[in-house]
Amino acid sequence: MKHILIVGAGGQIGSELTTYLRKIYGNANVVATDVRECKNLAADGPFEVLDALNATSMASVVARHNIDTIFNLVALLSAVGERNPQMAWGVNMGALMNSLEVARQHHCALFTPSSIGAFGPTSPKDGTPQDTIMQPTTVYGICKVTGELLSNYYHLKYGVDTRSVRFPGIISNVTQPGGGTTDYAVEIYYEAVRNGKYTCAVPSDVYMDMIYMPDALRACVELMEADPRQLIHRNSFNIASMSFTPEIIAAEIRKHIPEFEMDYYIDPVKREIAESWPNSLDDTCARQEWGWKPEWDLEKMTTDMLNVIRSREK
Ligand code: SER
Repeated sequence: MKHILIVGAGGQIGSELTTYLRKIYGNANVVATDVRECKNLAADGPFEVLDALNATSMASVVARHNIDTIFNLVALLSAVGERNPQMAWGVNMGALMNSLEVARQHHCALFTPSSIGAFGPTSPKDGTPQDTIMQPTTVYGICKVTGELLSNYYHLKYGVDTRSVRFPGIISNVTQPGGGTTDYAVEIYYEAVRNGKYTCAVPSDVYMDMIYMPDALRACVELMEADPRQLIHRNSFNIASMSFTPEIIAAEIRKHIPEFEMDYYIDPVKREIAESWPNSLDDTCARQEWGWKPEWDLEKMTTDMLNVIRSREK
């Protein structure tokens, strides 16, 4: 990777991936784009307003900056997607299709995140294998499975260097996610610091895979830098680092804030989605094919999240 384009850079992943990549590859070599102006991303490197649904504009940015690698991070998440499935399909697939075509025409590598949401109620729940039944029941998941298949198709048919990971719920302290089912695991930290209590929309005993942002960012770079001869899979790799329920994360927070209280006001849409997703993924293929290894667990992450949020809220 020498000249990188990030599409959807203003979102939860993009806002941190831009900074992370600029540190490694140089500020001038990482072009951040988003449908909205993002002042913080424009401060230390190139930024352009780009509507990912406009293929001509995307191709023009790629040509002008001599881009060789695209990170397509545009997505409406699972819960918000259920409120407007047609729009979710249009945005998620439109951005992907344009990224694939621009990557094909301009000889770029392409990273697009997939998700635990690509699995569904008929997938094995525990230790969900890399290659297994994928029949998601959300439009978000349907987009992810279709995206995986299309990305593999572009690799096989046109030789485009497409790569992807199935992200667990990502926990971070810079930009909050919006409209996802795993968002509770981010909100809970902010509410614990600010108010000492949190009302959770996901049932107390539902396990989902989660990952801390530093591990998620490292996964993007390690996969894109991996020797292609080692990759049996491409779109998309299971990765895992921790799996917990709302009760388990609340108990971890109580080790730092003993008076922390949590109650529940269940969102039926989030409940159904959360219950349809795996409890924990098997990430053996990612470990074997490109050396994936998580560095953060729930305990370490909780200490870090609370410290960062506390210092910022002072
Ligand atoms: N975090 C996403 C969501 O909850 C899953 O990839 O929608």
